[in-house]
Order: sequence, then C-alpha cells, then structure tokens
Amino acid sequence: MGSAMTIKPLIILPDPLLREVSKPVERIDSDALKLADDMLETMYDAPGIGLAAIQIGVPRRLLVIDVSKEGEEKTPLVVFNPVIVSSSDARSTYEEGCLSIPDYYAEVERPAAVTVNYVDRAGKEQVLEADGLLATCLQHEIDHLNGVLFIDHISRLKRDMVIRKFTKAAKGKL
Ligand code: NI
Repeated sequence: MGSAMTIKPLIILPDPLLREVSKPVERIDSDALKLADDMLETMYDAPGIGLAAIQIGVPRRLLVIDVSKEGEEKTPLVVFNPVIVSSSDARSTYEEGCLSIPDYYAEVERPAAVTVNYVDRAGKEQVLEADGLLATCLQHEIDHLNGVLFIDHISRLKRDMVIRKFTKAAKGKL
C-alpha cells in the first residue's frame, strides 16, 4: 500500500524563504520520493504546471513539472538536483505566473531551449533537452532553487509594484 499524498500549504510572496538558495538532495530515499509526490499533488491541486520544493517550505533542489494540456494524459516530471548545462542563443517569451505570486502574470524573455542534467526518481542521471513551454518552465523552477523569482526578470518598476501589493496583503492578514 502506498503512502497517501498530501497537499501542502504554499509559501507566498513576500515570504523570505522564497529568497533562500536550496541545497542538493543527497539521497533519493523514501522521504525524498514522498516529498516529490506531495509536491505533485500540491501542484495539480493548485493547479499549476511547475513547483519547486522551497514553495512548500523545503529548501532542497527538487522540482516537479507537468506541461501536458488539460484533458491530455498527465506527464509528471520529477527533477532532483537540476543543472542547466547549455542554453540557446535564441530566446522566447511566455506569459509567466507563479503559485507563490497568485493572480499575477507577466511576459518574461528567456533562452528558447535548454539542456538540463538531473537525477530522476530512480536515482538515475538524466539529460533533458527542452524547448517551448517546458524550457521556460524548467528555467522558472530552477530559478526558485536559487532564490530567484520570475518578477526578477521584469522591469524594476513592475517588480516593486508587485512586491508592495503582496507585502500589503500579507500585513492585512496579521
Ligand atoms: Ni514559480
């Protein structure tokens, strides 16, 4: 019998945890796999297409992604300790959002294609060549592992506005 998956509360801007640099996952053991399953459950519930462990308060280099379209078969991707080993010169722009910055979207330009080395849930090293939405999503999630948010890629004016708005909202909840 498998352990039940748990939906975890999301860390929201301006929580300083979002600025932490996550540490490598040293062992792909049952705890690491449970964390990955909980992250998938949390991401699907939100719903979102990507989630980094720090977004549920765990500063480890782990992310989950599923860029399949609604109604299509799910394609969950569990990525431990990812490293971007090459990025294309060609760039692409997507409107990005983030489960830690709810209901805010902005266009972000990034390399259109990336090659990412990572460890899969079986503990095996993998090389992933990604383009399109998957490339953008990988870069967005890997940024989280380094304490970087997609709003760091937009104009300072817009970024300051978003941070002010979320800071005000957080204070209102105290
Ligand atoms: Ni995000």
